[in-house]
Amino acid sequence: MKFKKFVPVVFIVFFSINIFSSSIAQQKSIDAKVDSVLKLMTLDEKIGQMNQYNGDWEATGPITNDGDKQNQIRKGMVGSMLNVTGVEHTRLLQQMAMQSRMKIPLLFGQDIIHGYRTIFPIPLAEAASWDLFAIEKSARVAAVEASAVGVHWTFAPMVDIARDPRWGRVMEGAGEDPFLGSAIAKARVQGFQRNGLGNTDAVMACAKHFAAYGAAVGGRDYNAVDMSLRQLHEIYLPPFKAALDAGAATFMNSFNDLNGVPATGNKYLQRDLLKGQWKFKGFVVSDWGSVREMINHGYSKNNYEAAMHATNAGSDMDMESRSYIQNLKQLVKDKKVTVAVIDDAVKRILKKKFEMGLFDDPYKFSNIAREQQQFNNAAHLQASQTMAEKSIVLLKNNNQLLPLSKQIKNIALIGPFVKAVRDNLGFWSYSWPDDTARVVTLYQGIQNKVSSTTKLLYAKGCDIDDQNKNGFEEALTAAKDADVIIMSMGEASNWSGEAKSRSNIHLPGVQEELIKAMQATGKPVVVLINAGRPLIFNWTADNVPAILYTWWLGTKAGDAIANVLFGDYNPSAKLPMSFPRTEGQIPIYYNHYNTGRPAANDSDVNYVSAYIDLPNSPKFCFGYGLSYTSFNYSAITLNKTKLKTNEKLEATIIITNTGNYDGEEVVQLYIRDMVASVVRPVKELKGFQKIFLKKGESKTVKFIITVDDLKFYNNELKYAAESGAFKIFIGTSSAEVKEVGFIFDK
Ligand code: BGC
Repeated sequence: MKFKKFVPVVFIVFFSINIFSSSIAQQKSIDAKVDSVLKLMTLDEKIGQMNQYNGDWEATGPITNDGDKQNQIRKGMVGSMLNVTGVEHTRLLQQMAMQSRMKIPLLFGQDIIHGYRTIFPIPLAEAASWDLFAIEKSARVAAVEASAVGVHWTFAPMVDIARDPRWGRVMEGAGEDPFLGSAIAKARVQGFQRNGLGNTDAVMACAKHFAAYGAAVGGRDYNAVDMSLRQLHEIYLPPFKAALDAGAATFMNSFNDLNGVPATGNKYLQRDLLKGQWKFKGFVVSDWGSVREMINHGYSKNNYEAAMHATNAGSDMDMESRSYIQNLKQLVKDKKVTVAVIDDAVKRILKKKFEMGLFDDPYKFSNIAREQQQFNNAAHLQASQTMAEKSIVLLKNNNQLLPLSKQIKNIALIGPFVKAVRDNLGFWSYSWPDDTARVVTLYQGIQNKVSSTTKLLYAKGCDIDDQNKNGFEEALTAAKDADVIIMSMGEASNWSGEAKSRSNIHLPGVQEELIKAMQATGKPVVVLINAGRPLIFNWTADNVPAILYTWWLGTKAGDAIANVLFGDYNPSAKLPMSFPRTEGQIPIYYNHYNTGRPAANDSDVNYVSAYIDLPNSPKFCFGYGLSYTSFNYSAITLNKTKLKTNEKLEATIIITNTGNYDGEEVVQLYIRDMVASVVRPVKELKGFQKIFLKKGESKTVKFIITVDDLKFYNNELKYAAESGAFKIFIGTSSAEVKEVGFIFDK
């Protein structure tokens, strides 16, 4: 067995007796192997396994430099590195780990958030596809590419629910809904870990940030979270549970405090819930420096106490804060942390290293031939383009302006993003030296698509975010000769992401003024909006005939957008977040409570729960998105009107494609519990199906509803369904639905 090559002498002797020389021993489980290794480790070596450093090549947070990392690796004082990629680098550091006494391989972790070499749409955009198969595929491609360059572990998926578009990290998640978020969490974990850990093309997933990070006060990153346990369990935790059930190997805790206790030092979250009630067998890594940050929170006096709080609460690995390596030994001596707690953490970490096959071959993922082979993979590029097409949301299409004809004579291409390269990739993406040649800009995408006689008239018009209108003139000149004006507007890709909260999420600078100027020409205008979050663009939404929300779509952005603009792909995406009319409406989400004084409609302000200066409804609601074709929904038919526990209720609806194009529709099922022991949301997504209908075709869509779909957390946190009246809604968005009632009678 290769195993022997990488273990120390004592270890070899031990294993020769206990594992290799008998067939019974060969069947020993990984747990037994882990125990055997653990027995041979000193306390220092154990603490080393719980220590993670950033590599010297790049950083995704504030680096603490000690200049001695490599030496520490050789001494077995480091269990994992982040931000080290490439066969050359990972091999180099792994060789150092192999010089340590125990020769325990390093784990290499990296933020592979939406692709590595081939960049896919940002996760929020992918969520808009509601296409679980495509999302899983996206994660699969990322895993294949990352694992080929020595990465073992991605810090993804981010499964934080977010109801606040000011928070920059909404771009990393799946939006506001726990049901959709859970389905996507599962798809992503499966994609990363497909066929199980130990396969050379699987990377460990990491469900983050545990927990409730997305509910930060005011949408300000890293801020406090104060919420009822009921809301935590009902809205924020389900995607984590889904990730765990899908086999997520690791969890990452979060920067925020939850009800006064920082997540990193939160025993309820990590030890009682995750490792206790949920029986999570993987390990928990802290977020970058979050152990030490408990001092700033005012929760730990010093780094010594921070390490104590974090370890005892169940944070197994310390990312970058050096709190564990500097304090755990003393904490054990002082009997503030038990060896049993340390052993539990180390066992969890070693177990994953065994499952990954790293004890068999620490260089298993560092293969130069594989690295080169995955570097330019045409199938991956195609998958990225397909995902991008599925992510584009058609927000408006008056008089069927879209799709455009490829034979159009003159197209004006206006806006700061028409020729953008880097901005197409979005936050959390890697820069490659050949990005300019490889990333398809909007301009190139359109050029690739239109007839050879079509003329493209380009003018930038304005910058992303300044008040300068000098470019308007040139844009007007281009527009004068155009048959259609396509405008590429939005926010820069580094305006959403970590530490990118914004209080003003309107279309920035003079962009909307440029749109007004173009619209005033009387020419047909199509606006594309590139962003990592819902933006506000009311004038555009009310006045411009056609709008596509194009997010940040990745390496093949331009080709994907062109396919949609010119009808080679009929848009099918639906918004995974509510789009506010103005920041004053935030937080805004569809699954709110009815209140004691619900507004009858958007203009009702008569002592009801409403703003006197603004409708309650969002500009675009959750689940909204158009197609080039139209769909008719029949009335809903139920197979019975009374449901009992252990029975199934079938809700059927006939959808007909009544327009002129073949197309896909996301049919959405919502449920409302009319009266319960705690108030329930006006609607909750409980199912969806993405169907394809040829022009003129009808399909019957059936949803099966069981007692599980009716359960909720009551005030004692008991998860159960209560007898009474319910409503079912089926429709094309959270606002446009058919409805029918039924009774649940236990
Ligand atoms: C982020 C994590 C990320 C980590 C490592 C932190 O700042 O919050 O999501 O995985 O850095 O890059």
